[in-house]
Amino acid sequence: MLYIGVDLGTSAVKLLLMNEKGGIENIVSKEYPLEFPHPGWSQQKPEDWWEQTVAGLKELTANADKSKIAGISFGGQMHGLVVLDKDDNVIRPAILWNDGRTTKETDYLNNVIGKDKLSEYTANIAFAGFTAPKILWMKENEPENFAKIAKIMLPKDYIAYKLSGVHCTDVSDASGMLLFDVKNKCWSKEMMEICSVREDQLAKIFESYEVVGTIKSDVASDLGFPTDVKIIAGAGDNAAAAIGTGTVGDGRCNISLGTSGTIFISSKDFCVDENNALHAFAHSDGHYHLMGCMLSAASCNKWWMEDIIGTQDFAGEQKDITKLGENNVFFLPYLMGERSPHNNPDARAMFIGMSMDTTRADMTQAVLEGVAFGIRDSFEVARSLGINITKTKICGGGAKSPLWKKIMANVLGITVEVIESEEGPGYGGAILAAVGCGEYASVEEAADKLVKVVGTVEPDADLTAKYEEKYQKFKKIYPTVKCLY
Ligand code: XUL
Repeated sequence: MLYIGVDLGTSAVKLLLMNEKGGIENIVSKEYPLEFPHPGWSQQKPEDWWEQTVAGLKELTANADKSKIAGISFGGQMHGLVVLDKDDNVIRPAILWNDGRTTKETDYLNNVIGKDKLSEYTANIAFAGFTAPKILWMKENEPENFAKIAKIMLPKDYIAYKLSGVHCTDVSDASGMLLFDVKNKCWSKEMMEICSVREDQLAKIFESYEVVGTIKSDVASDLGFPTDVKIIAGAGDNAAAAIGTGTVGDGRCNISLGTSGTIFISSKDFCVDENNALHAFAHSDGHYHLMGCMLSAASCNKWWMEDIIGTQDFAGEQKDITKLGENNVFFLPYLMGERSPHNNPDARAMFIGMSMDTTRADMTQAVLEGVAFGIRDSFEVARSLGINITKTKICGGGAKSPLWKKIMANVLGITVEVIESEEGPGYGGAILAAVGCGEYASVEEAADKLVKVVGTVEPDADLTAKYEEKYQKFKKIYPTVKCLY
């Protein structure tokens, strides 16, 4: 049988076709635009996601035996607010996870409702990118649009809805809305009231590996798919990536270097960071996880390469980087503000420490190191909770760079395990589809059987010591420059 994983990302939708043995038969990527209508705002058109997903599904399966397609599932960019009216029309562009417009609403939630109450209701506090503050923003700033809302959904759930007609979501993605009681896996009545939202506007909740319905017949006939293809709930992209890298069960770690950068720690039991610096979310394996999220990771490198120095040759630029641990230039990676651990949408990026002999390679290196130091910030929060991480998996576009993996291993001082396929969310989505269709008994069983470690990057004692010194300096920069933002 064949299973499809749809990774609805921020720059593109990546579709992956997997056979029942876990072999990847094809991968297709289709881009769509990202709008920044004001500094710090970030929007996309759900219609673009759908159009490109359909085009991608056709291309993905063009040479496949379509009669074997059994299930489709997802990994999707989290937190985005998608709103439909009573006739299922999209009311306004989706407000994305890296949008920083909700400072006022986030302050209201954290300071007037109070962090303790939010944490009691949802296991989390408010961050600008989470969904609930965006709903409050719409209520205040676009009352006509707010009044029209019939359905509230997350990005990947819009695709599941277009495919199946079922208004559904999964526990991992719902966790990032600040409307969901993570511990008890149900909508929070208190948060619905605070946000003036009714339960009938919210989606039906599923575990990530559960079947939500079957493909609509008109969609099946347009795609040439069988009419009994199952649609499986899927997961937020980080939880799906965790499946795709085998980060399931207890105490495993995955780092994702995509548009965002995340550190994800799986846990069998519900757990919460008392200071709420890490997100406490449900996992797509049926359990829970903690996560730190930087808003700009591989996107910092993409910005620096493409927009500033004007090249597409990422690997070529990295060839000139030879002085690991000896760079005097620092880069703060806050191009879209920062979530973990600073929770400051107004933070901004900067280079610091250049001299007349600073080279282009030094600046490129500073970008890669700045992102690694940002991940280290969340890693330190996990450590302070007594979590002992000795190794991690890694995925996302940035993980394709051997140099970046080496920097990461040495900045964190832990082993980085390289896996066969770095297609985290897409592969995780396909695995969830296979589990939903009964190919495997559980997500853990499937991930343990299918995900293969093919190499390791070990930290080097000398380099780790040098990076330790650099990190101690990096840590001082944000508190010093914060007053400028
Ligand atoms: C996680 C987060 C990002 C997006 C990126 O909390 O906001 O990782 O999911 O797609």
